[in-house]
Parts: sequence; C-alpha cells; structure tokens
Amino acid sequence: RGAASASAVPAGGSPLSAQVREFEGSYPEAASPTGVVRDVALEAAPATLPLLDGQPLDVWAYNVQVPGPTIRVRLGERLRVTFTNRLARPTTVHWHGVRLPNAMDGVPGVTQPAVPPGGTFVYEFVPKDAGTFWFHPHLRSSEQVERGLYGVLVVEDPVPPPYSRDIVWVLDDWRIREGAIDPQFNTPHDLMHDGRWGNVITVNGSIDERLTVRPGERIRLRLLNAANGRVFAPDFSGLDARVISVDGLYTAKPLDPAGFELAPGNRIDLDITIPASAAGRQFSVVDRFTRRPNALASIDVSQGAAVRTPAFPSPAAAHVAPWRDTEAIAPRLEYRLAARRGGEFGIEWTLNGAAARHAHDTEASTAEGDGHEVSVLPRREWSKLRFVNDSGRLHPIHLHGMFFKVLSRNGRPADEPFFRDTVLVHGRETVDVGVVPLDEGRWMLHCHILEHAEAGMMSLLDVK
Ligand code: C2O
Ligand code: CU
Repeated sequence: RGAASASAVPAGGSPLSAQVREFEGSYPEAASPTGVVRDVALEAAPATLPLLDGQPLDVWAYNVQVPGPTIRVRLGERLRVTFTNRLARPTTVHWHGVRLPNAMDGVPGVTQPAVPPGGTFVYEFVPKDAGTFWFHPHLRSSEQVERGLYGVLVVEDPVPPPYSRDIVWVLDDWRIREGAIDPQFNTPHDLMHDGRWGNVITVNGSIDERLTVRPGERIRLRLLNAANGRVFAPDFSGLDARVISVDGLYTAKPLDPAGFELAPGNRIDLDITIPASAAGRQFSVVDRFTRRPNALASIDVSQGAAVRTPAFPSPAAAHVAPWRDTEAIAPRLEYRLAARRGGEFGIEWTLNGAAARHAHDTEASTAEGDGHEVSVLPRREWSKLRFVNDSGRLHPIHLHGMFFKVLSRNGRPADEPFFRDTVLVHGRETVDVGVVPLDEGRWMLHCHILEHAEAGMMSLLDVK
C-alpha cells in the first residue's frame, strides 16, 4: 500500500519546528468538557416534503426535514446522537469538519461498519471548536446527499457574541425532471465534468428564501454549501457583510466576502449589520460563480424604527499560524489529481494514479482500509501537502479530522488569514497547504464533488 509520493523532510532544528511554534494556540488539542450532555435522536428515512417551489417532492430526509435539523450545542457539551437508519440502503453519518475521536467519523469500512437498514449507531463526542459544521452520509453520498440527507451542526461559543439573530442558510442545487429528483446518478457526463450540477437552486430547501430583518439588527448568517458539485460565490454587495469564520473556525480578522468561492463542503459565517437607513429596502443575494448570476435569497428590511443592537467587537480575531516563506520547504505528500477510463462508471478519478474501490450500497463494508490508499502524517508535526491538478476540472479537496491553511496557489504565496477543511483546486492548478494534525486516527482525504469521490477520488491519512 504505497504512500502518495513522499519527499524528504528536513531534519531536526528545521524550519518545520518554527511552523509548529507558530501554530501553537491556533486551535486546542483537547476538548474542555463541561459535563453537559445533549441527546439527539436522528433518523434517516424517505419522505415527501413541500420543497423548492412548495410542491411535494420525494426525498430522503433526516427527521422528516430538508435540510435536516440544525443541531446546536455549546462548546464543551457532549453531543450524543442516536441514529436510526430507516432507508432501504446502508448509510453512515459523517460530521464534516468536526475534530472528534476517529471512531465517530462515520466513514464506512474505515471507522465503522455501515449502518444497515433498520440499524442504529450512537455517535458521541465533545466538539473542540465553536463554529458551523454539518453532517451527511459517507456512503454513496453522491446519491444520498443529493436526495436530501444533510444537516447543520452549530457549536456555539461558551458565551456567544450578542448578535440579534443567528441564522443558517444551507445552499444546494437539485436536478429536477418532471417534478422529481432525476434518479440517474453518477452519469458519465457528471463524472467527466464537475459532478452533478442541478437545474434548481435552493436556500434552506426553498427557491424563494426570504429573511426579514429589522433596521439596526446585527445578525450572524451561517452559509453551508451542501451541493454535490456546484460552487457558489455569494454576492452580498449593498450590505455591510464581513466573513468572520471559515469552515468552522474564526478568521484572524473580518474579511470582505466578495469573490469567496464556497465550494461543496465549505462554510462561511457572516457578520451583517443592517443600517437604520435601510428600513423598507430589499437586498437580493446572488451567486456569481457562473457566468450568469443565480438568485439565492433575499434579505428584506422591515419598515419602522431601528432596533438597538449592543456594540461588540468582531469575534474574528483568532490566532492563525502565519506560515509565511514556506515555498522552499518540500511537500511531505504530493497528490496528483487526474481522470482515466475504467471502473464502475466508465470513468475513474484518481489520486496519484489510484482510484479507491470500495464496497457500498448493497452490503455493509467492513474491510480494513476498504480499498483506499493510505499515507502517514506525523501527529503534532508540520506537513506541507501539495495538490497538483492534472485535469481541467474543479476539485474541492477535503480533509477529515484536521484544519489546514492554504500556503500557495501555483507557487504564488496565498494570503488567507484562516484555516479551512476544504479547498477548491481549480483546473490545472497546484495548491500547497500546511497542516499540524492533532488527532490520531485514520482520516479521509477526498474530493467533495461527490461524484468524483464516488468514482475513486478518495484516500486515507494515518495520523500517528
Ligand atoms: Cu463532507 Cu468526507 O465529507
Ligand atoms: Cu473532484
């Protein structure tokens, strides 16, 4: 089982220890449990729900909702989710972005056997980071997520900043044919391109999501891209909006959201102050990733006197390891991203020439490693990972169990004052990231275009 390609790492006293020192304080190694336990029952089952334009749509849903329930816990609380599978297929629940014990990560055949139809599984962990996370199946996710299985996990700060409102917007797209979800999954067309892009875009399941606010409010708006393949670039111009958090961790400073590419899996939290002068106005939020803009949702400001929101400093003041001047350091792992003919769907997506072949759908897979390549990442050390996109397609690369920081794109230093768990690698692009993994275990590295992942673009990292 070959490592991806490894280059020699400079020996002791190297610049690498400087990177680890800079990392200290970026995010904690351990959770700080308060002793409070939050019990949640979660059930996946087919449902018919008024979605999109309000007509009934056959979906697969968590707790008869799409998006599934927003689970809220405070930092330090223990979340105990008793999951029941009422689907006709095996499934799992993966907690995207959450640093948790490896056995709770929800990856079938790697961290647990799949949950069979009628089966249950208890997920239990104390989140270590306060922010916006989400959960979704990790088995045939190209179909299961597309049919509606996803929900948001909000981990609140021990003392949440006093926003007048804390709102979640889940962005998704759907391929609808004759009033139903197109049952053709993993088509050659989708595999050759950037996965399945739908013909209907929704926010919180609706094509016409409206948020009504009062002048003077200061709201926290949490955005998640739950689409299989579509990238969104939400445009909040006209509003005083600042990015305060990316992928569940606060940024080092508030950032302009303009141009931020919200790839599948990514989250951003926005801090938006509605000016008193905006009474009666309507702001439409559009997606500008594609040539033709797509309407997403609107923020309607009511008439009347402004509410007074207490002034407070932006929570976007995290310590984020600077990791500058790392260009000369050799990557520990390099991944080449490419497609070839073959496999179950006629096209395979590969990492260093390997396509993960895994049991799914029909049987609970339990095999060790389950057909994935495994590479090693040393715990508490700094590593550079390089993604070289030999294809012209998009690949949002996601790592489980750790946050990383983008160091450079095409050799040009990047200036991102934040960590991520998912980075969009554009066609023919090379992206370097730095990471200090803190949590032991076998963690997935995969493309979050779910069709690409299903067609092989998955690998494993052993952190030890
Ligand atoms: Cu959101 Cu392994 O995925
Ligand atoms: Cu991909």
